[in-house]
Parts: sequence; structure tokens; C-alpha cells
Amino acid sequence: MSISPPAVRGKEESPDEGDFDPLTRAATRANHDATTETVIAAESLAHREARLARATAAARRLEVASRLAVRLTELRDPQEIAQTVVCELHSAFGYYLAVIHRLDGDGILRVLDGAGRLAERAANFLAWEQPADSGVNGRVARTGVLALVDDTALDPDYVGSHAREAGARRDPGSELAVPIHVDGRVWGVLNLEQEETHSFDEYDVMLAEAVVAQTGAALHRCLLVDEMEQSFSRTLGVLCDALESKDTYTADHAEEVSTLALATAAQLRINGRQHRDLRYAALLHDIGKIGVRSELLNKPSSLTPEEYLEIQTHSEIGSTLLERIPMLAEIAPMVRGVHERWDGNGYPDRLAGSEIPIESRIVAICDAWHAMTSDRPYRKAMSQADARAELTRCSGTQFDPDVLLAFLSSIDA
Ligand SMILES: [Fe+2]
Repeated sequence: MSISPPAVRGKEESPDEGDFDPLTRAATRANHDATTETVIAAESLAHREARLARATAAARRLEVASRLAVRLTELRDPQEIAQTVVCELHSAFGYYLAVIHRLDGDGILRVLDGAGRLAERAANFLAWEQPADSGVNGRVARTGVLALVDDTALDPDYVGSHAREAGARRDPGSELAVPIHVDGRVWGVLNLEQEETHSFDEYDVMLAEAVVAQTGAALHRCLLVDEMEQSFSRTLGVLCDALESKDTYTADHAEEVSTLALATAAQLRINGRQHRDLRYAALLHDIGKIGVRSELLNKPSSLTPEEYLEIQTHSEIGSTLLERIPMLAEIAPMVRGVHERWDGNGYPDRLAGSEIPIESRIVAICDAWHAMTSDRPYRKAMSQADARAELTRCSGTQFDPDVLLAFLSSIDA
């Protein structure tokens, strides 16, 4: 039996390796290196995966923010804006609750709209309200500073949990509340909630800040449009007053025709921008009479053919006036077309059928109805039954038959 000489330990060898033959040592070293490489590779993979997950999360939030930005530019109503924001956030990220509170003048935060499981299961969710002097949302509304609450149990301002009374754990566990600024003031609060604690990260904060900036801009646009519409309505009022001072008949006529036209529009399912245009067209359909002699407008006897021709110029005068007002230029053809006839024998352009703007066809019927059922300088008011019979007689010649049916349904409703 021979005894092997002790191995000579090289500089690069580890003490443990000295007990093995060179082949074993090489294998051990290779194995060690491979393990190290595997660990490094695993760490690198985990790192890459984490980076990818973060990038994906950021991209997802960016995508939602940019989609919302596009959708919000089309909206003109705060309720629609709130609904769009919370539904988009909830469907993209499955928040337990996404809600927009509006801060009202009486210092109360009221729910404008909300989405998520908490909103679905809460009774009468839309009626929720809370004073701005309490709660996390109240703090945000008062200070205008965002609140990221990792654990609602640890926030002294957190007001009541909906499940606490039942003895359940704190529900929700975390929340993110961000102020919505409009024209430099806190308008309300976007509140996101999750069941678990520590659910929100810096990407949620970035998303929420981007969303409230877009929401605030959209709400500001609503406010400006509202102000413009109000000042516009006042301007219309002045114009109508000017006409009324010339023509006693128009005192209530424009308002009455407008009311009848909007009732007809409801039957025809006309809404949105077209509804607004119809209202203005109805209010202004006689505005051209400003350019017609008062003695003709108030003449107690029948008009001569020449006088009738002169009265007819009010359609063109009215549309020419409106064309010069940028906000009313689109109404001009509607006003011009009110005295056109369905059979093409009207004035001033002898348009026929669907060539005549639908708004003009609606106003034409309402105008005729109100004229027939009102006292005029030269005759007493007709009964509603007679006026109805007269309109029906003119269906398909003077009036659009479908619009006439809608009108008759509206006065029967
Ligand atoms: Fe009229």
C-alpha cells in the first residue's frame, strides 16, 4: 500500500481544496463558480424583472393619464368629468374605491361620482358627504396638500371605517387623497382607496397628480363655458328686449317658441350641442324684425302684398345679423330657414325637405302653433283643436311630417 505525498498548496488554492486531488479541486472550483454565476444571474434576472415591472407600471399609468387627457377635452359637464375619471381609474387599476368629492360653498365635501367595490356595496353611496373640517379628505381640501396614507389605522384624521362597526379590520387599509385645483382654489378631492395597507407607491402618486391636473383643467373649461353662456344669454336677452320694444307680439313669443321647440327636441332625441343651437335658433328666429318698420309689425289689419314682402325680409336680416357674431354664426342658417316650406315653396331660398335645417323645421311648426293660438293685432287666438287641425292639414306641404308628429306628441305629453 502506497501513501500519496501531501498535496502542495498553490497560491490560488483555498485551504479546503488542499485536501483533494487536482481533479476534485478543479471540479469543486468549477461548481463554486457555476453556483456564483447562477446566483448572480438570478439576482440580475430578479433585478431586471423588478425594473421591467416598474417600467410596465409607469407605462400603464402614463397610458391611462394620456387616454383621460383626450377624453376630458370632450366633456363639458362636471358630473360627466367625475364619472369618466373614476371609471377609468377603477377599470385600469381595480382600486377598491376611486371617488371625486366636490367641496361646496357650505364647507361640505359631497360625492360627485365614485367607482369600485366599496362604492358598489355602500348604501346610497352618492349621498355621502363629510364636513371639510374633519377626515383625511377634509385635511386635503383645507390645506390643498396631497395625503398618502399607508395605514389608515395610523392616521389620526382618518374618519370611521365602514367595516369597523362590524368588528372587522380597518377597511380600507390605505388611501391616497389629492386636491383638485380649479382657477387657483381647491375645488374638490380625488380619493383612491385600497383594502390593504401600503398599497400606493410613487407611481400611483404620479398618476393621481397627473389626473387631478387634467381634471382641474377640464372643470375650469366647464366654468369658463358656463360663464360665457351666461353672459351670452344676457346678451340675447338684451337683443330680444330691443325687438320686443318694437313688436308687442314678441314679448313672450320667443320664449314660448323656445319652450315648444325643446319639448319637440326631446321627442326627437335631440341633445347636446344641437339642443343648445335649437334653443338659440328658437329664441332668435324673429330677431331680423329689428330691421322691419314697427308700423308693419304692429299693423292691426291685414298686410298688403308689398308689406308682406317687406316682412319676409326679416329671415335674411336676422341671419345676416347673426353671421357677424362668432358664437351665433352657426345659428344663422337655422334662423334663415324658419320660413322655408317642406314642399320647397317657402322663402328666402326655396329649400325643400331635408335641405332645410332640422332646427328650422322644428321652429317653423312651433312658431306657427304659437302664432295661431295667440291673439294678434288683426285677429283673435284660434282654439288649440283648430290650430292642431291646421298644422295637420299642412303636413307634407308646409311642414315636415315627422317633426309635426313629434311636436303633436310633445303637446299631448
Ligand atoms: Fe316667430
